[in-house]
Amino acid sequence: MPKYHIQTFGCQMNYSDTERMEAYLHALGFDKTETPEAADLVIFNTCSIRQKAEDKVYGSMIRAANYKRKNPNLIVAVTGCMVRKSSSKYSTERDKLFNRMKELDIALRTEELPKFAELARELDPKLKFPEIEEEELEDYFQINPTHSSQKSGTQAFVAISNGCDNFCTYCIVPYSRGREKSRKIGEILEECKKAVAEGHKEITLIGQTVNSYGLSKHDKEAGTFEYLKDEEPFVHLLKEVDKLSEKGLERVRFTSPHPKDMSDKLIEAMATLKTQMPYLHLPVQAGDNAVLRRMNRNYTVEHYKEIVKKLREKNPDISISTDIIVGFCGETDEEFENTYNFFKEMGFEHAYISQYSERRGTTASKFIPDDIPDEVKKQRWERMNELLKKTSARAHQRFKGKTVKVLVEEQNGDVCIGRSEHYKTVQFQSEKELLGKIVPVKITHSDTFILKRL
Ligand code: 5AD
Ligand code: SF4
Repeated sequence: MPKYHIQTFGCQMNYSDTERMEAYLHALGFDKTETPEAADLVIFNTCSIRQKAEDKVYGSMIRAANYKRKNPNLIVAVTGCMVRKSSSKYSTERDKLFNRMKELDIALRTEELPKFAELARELDPKLKFPEIEEEELEDYFQINPTHSSQKSGTQAFVAISNGCDNFCTYCIVPYSRGREKSRKIGEILEECKKAVAEGHKEITLIGQTVNSYGLSKHDKEAGTFEYLKDEEPFVHLLKEVDKLSEKGLERVRFTSPHPKDMSDKLIEAMATLKTQMPYLHLPVQAGDNAVLRRMNRNYTVEHYKEIVKKLREKNPDISISTDIIVGFCGETDEEFENTYNFFKEMGFEHAYISQYSERRGTTASKFIPDDIPDEVKKQRWERMNELLKKTSARAHQRFKGKTVKVLVEEQNGDVCIGRSEHYKTVQFQSEKELLGKIVPVKITHSDTFILKRL
């Protein structure tokens, strides 16, 4: 049996796509190998959100060139966000990546996964694969993922939509993943049911803007969700998934929502559904209205504050984390200070802070000069990070002496690591076999980023 090896970069969506790719390759008769040297097919599932992410991919691809020297029959493929055009090295119109890497054989857009067999046959017309039913491949979401990314099988990521229509001026995603399309509710529920039957206690629903599920132009034109009438598709989905608590599902999270689609009904559902957790990752990007406008975020600082106020009214103990970009085009000292102070005021408990990285093809790259020097970006990043450490440490204090429930995701000897209801990483010791179980843990110690029972 031929063997494949996939190296995945980037966000949860890419890991979820890799699981789908695995299932598809198994259907084509491939077997998985953890060692790329032993593979007949090496796939890089790439991320292009920032230049640093792309540089990491290029670094790994150089290694693939070495494998190919040792094994000239090796097929090297690239998929994910760096690919614009599905093609093989023999195609007449090829992806630009072929110019950068002569060892590359196949470039494949994620949502065109079912084209893999056809492109592989362009390389070698003698290659034979088992027939896969056409309707099973109508779109790539119909390929059932393996749920292999999660070590212990305790939590599963279920993609509910792909693509984005928001065109934030800095972001490459609408170009790399295309327009937003939602999966049908029935299909998602089937996948969730399967994950629960496999023993997963937690499900994270994922999408680029997960809470605009069913609201995109494509979804409206297709009329897929018309039957729901006034009910918001995402809220409806959360209610349906919540029913799986009868089958053993304990926790449901979702990531990442867009502030402009945080409706009152969604806030209500988060506060009332049994499986919803007291945690939300709500990317704000900047705490200054002029910057938000340049980013095309479609909300104001005031609107964001209002959402947080409502979330806290319904659930005073909720933990909120966010994404911030520092050094975006034209960001003045004053605008940065506004973001800094906003971060403090909101009491964000965690954050992914990035320095702006220009992406070719985006609106910002075409029309707004990337004029903040690297040194200034770095200084601002460091200041934000120092602040984050303080706010995170302070937020963790409140758990000292309290008992939290931990879903154990890793156990090495007697050291257990898992996540609490508030998505805090918790470490404790136990002699018992606890992997995949939810257990009460009394916190005795709190660090900047971790809670412990010592
Ligand atoms: N530069 C820096 N950070 C970016 N992000 C997205 N695009 C860029 C970019 N060009 C960040 C945003 C987003 C997260 C996934 O990555 O904060 O929420
Ligand atoms: Fe990118 Fe904005 Fe879409 Fe998020 S909402 S994926 S930041 S374009």
